[in-house]
Amino acid sequence: MKPKILVYMRVDDRVIKELEKDFHITSFQNHEYIGNRTFDQALKEADGIIGLALKVNKELLDLAPNLKIVSNVSVGYDNLDIEELTKRKIMATNTPGVLDDTTADAIFGIMLSTARRIPELDQFVKSGKWDISLQPNQYGVDVHHKTLGIIGMGKIGRAIAQRAHLGFGMNILYHNRSRNKEAENIYNATYCELDELLKQSDFVCLMVPSTKDTNKMIGAAEFKKMKKSAIFINGSRGKNVDEDALYHALSNGDIHAAGIDVFTEEPTNPNNPLLQLKNIVTLPHIGSSTTECEYGMSKLAAENLHAGLSGKKPPSLLNEDASGKEK
Ligand code: DGY
Repeated sequence: MKPKILVYMRVDDRVIKELEKDFHITSFQNHEYIGNRTFDQALKEADGIIGLALKVNKELLDLAPNLKIVSNVSVGYDNLDIEELTKRKIMATNTPGVLDDTTADAIFGIMLSTARRIPELDQFVKSGKWDISLQPNQYGVDVHHKTLGIIGMGKIGRAIAQRAHLGFGMNILYHNRSRNKEAENIYNATYCELDELLKQSDFVCLMVPSTKDTNKMIGAAEFKKMKKSAIFINGSRGKNVDEDALYHALSNGDIHAAGIDVFTEEPTNPNNPLLQLKNIVTLPHIGSSTTECEYGMSKLAAENLHAGLSGKKPPSLLNEDASGKEK
């Protein structure tokens, strides 16, 4: 009998077709969740789960007695309770590597959009208000040759540094748990303490994973340390930033502007006060969302799932200690 898998949101259709050859699939492409009978039934029987951002915690795992692997279609895995999964010998995997360039492109797009006020000026043209040449109060600020502070120099941080150094001649500062010699040697990035980075950067770009240590790591005190001309970019997870503090920093002029791809709650509430501000560019978590990249992520997630359910070590296993469960 084919192993049973639960396919959750955002697995590429071509990949689902391939998975169908080897697995019995129950698919949930919308927001069905615990409490939905079909979902609970699929969980009860599932040997594996593949998908994006499903909250896998004790409560869900209690409903999934056969589960051997959870294959995330994302590099971030803050939706997974790794400790609980490991305790139950259930493997967890993610999709590192395949999204670095795509996400770095998105971050640069957000940086340029914010600095050059592209969404606002697009609306200016489309709403028919462009009747005389651009006025000084509509000018943007330069990105090239400015100082970029990257908080979190992992693979995506490195790809951002590459673009900043080679394409935009930027001076790069970074803060990370460990030193990144490649970023230092090839992209001329300088390691510094967080406070120093906040004080010196024209652009502060947050790229750390979401953990209990990074929760609200950028709040009122951090915004106060930034230059008044600073532009803050969040390409990591919404929870890493205190959204109220961001709102106040933007409305009080503590910082110049912000570009954010992520929110504390996603999708964000349409009444989120941040959405009322003029000096913020907001995006619906587009980091890795290109057709090519989403396909690559789905393929890698399927590879992880296949390996895990056929007794092999998945290429991007997150919890080595979990790979002993009887298959
Ligand atoms: C990731 O892969 O973590 C992206 O942010 C999409 O969730």
